[in-house]
Amino acid sequence: MPLTPADIDAVCDLVNDLCGICLDASKSYLIESRLSQIVQKHGFSSYSDMVRQVRLSTNSMVRTQIIDAITTNETLFFRDNYMFEALRHKALPELIDSKANTAFPQRLRIWSAACSTGQEPYSLAMTLAELIPDVNDWDIQILGTDISDAVVARASRGWYAPHEIERGLSPERLHRFFEPYDNGWKVRDELRALCSFRKLNLLEPLAMPGKFDMVFCRNVAIYFSRDVQRDLFHRIAQTMTTDAYLFVGAQEFLADHGPNFAPHQHCRGTFYRPNLINMPAYV
Ligand SMILES: C[S@@+](CC[C@H](N)C(=O)[O-])C[C@H]1O[C@@H](n2cnc3c(N)ncnc32)[C@H](O)[C@@H]1O
Repeated sequence: MPLTPADIDAVCDLVNDLCGICLDASKSYLIESRLSQIVQKHGFSSYSDMVRQVRLSTNSMVRTQIIDAITTNETLFFRDNYMFEALRHKALPELIDSKANTAFPQRLRIWSAACSTGQEPYSLAMTLAELIPDVNDWDIQILGTDISDAVVARASRGWYAPHEIERGLSPERLHRFFEPYDNGWKVRDELRALCSFRKLNLLEPLAMPGKFDMVFCRNVAIYFSRDVQRDLFHRIAQTMTTDAYLFVGAQEFLADHGPNFAPHQHCRGTFYRPNLINMPAYV
């Protein structure tokens, strides 16, 4: 199916509206390689025809398939390990100390926004389990969310193929936190119990049950425009407690958000504390 300039414009606009991802003509190979199967499978006469049908809302299945196909789900366990070192040696000890004299000293709420297939939230859970000996007696919830149904289902299952395990997991962690299952490895129940997963589009209102003590939102904002990034980080800040830290990806910087986010440093890891007093409150 040939991809015309009009098709490219139509697909780029749709993808931007659906999930905030910015594509342009330089990504036409990506559009073709990821979406041509959907066009053919559903018998659309062109990419523009597919876009028209999705916009008419006659086909939410196609919308889901487009999102699943166009999103880049690259992830690994303990990605940018120095961030997990900063978490282990600075952010978590500080958080646990700051909770000590509160009504709920053993309650921690952590959000992995855009968690892909779950390696990030499970890495957070492993870090907590290594730091807190009686972690399963604590009231801990690590929420993993993503826009893609397919990756949320995979994260929730907690099963990984050997090649995924090899990316970032040490043998010690593998044997402590995983068990062999179905030619791969499954997250053990004790670790799985710390995590929950659900679908969430970061462009939509972030209706959360309570405030988070820590948010990881990494390697997703790079796909968004500067305006969408700014809006997203401000809305995420509203979901956080005043002592909470926000961790972003290695190529994502909050410097141009001025005094709204104060950078904190541990070794190579930079993470941010939102300045909620200065920020407009909207979610
Ligand atoms: C590259 S992965 C990052 C995974 C993980 N945070 C990490 O750093 O390893 C980006 C994820 O963002 C998700 N995503 C893209 N647009 C989104 C949106 N509008 N709302 C929520 N998730 C989105 C994709 O489905 C994908 O799983």
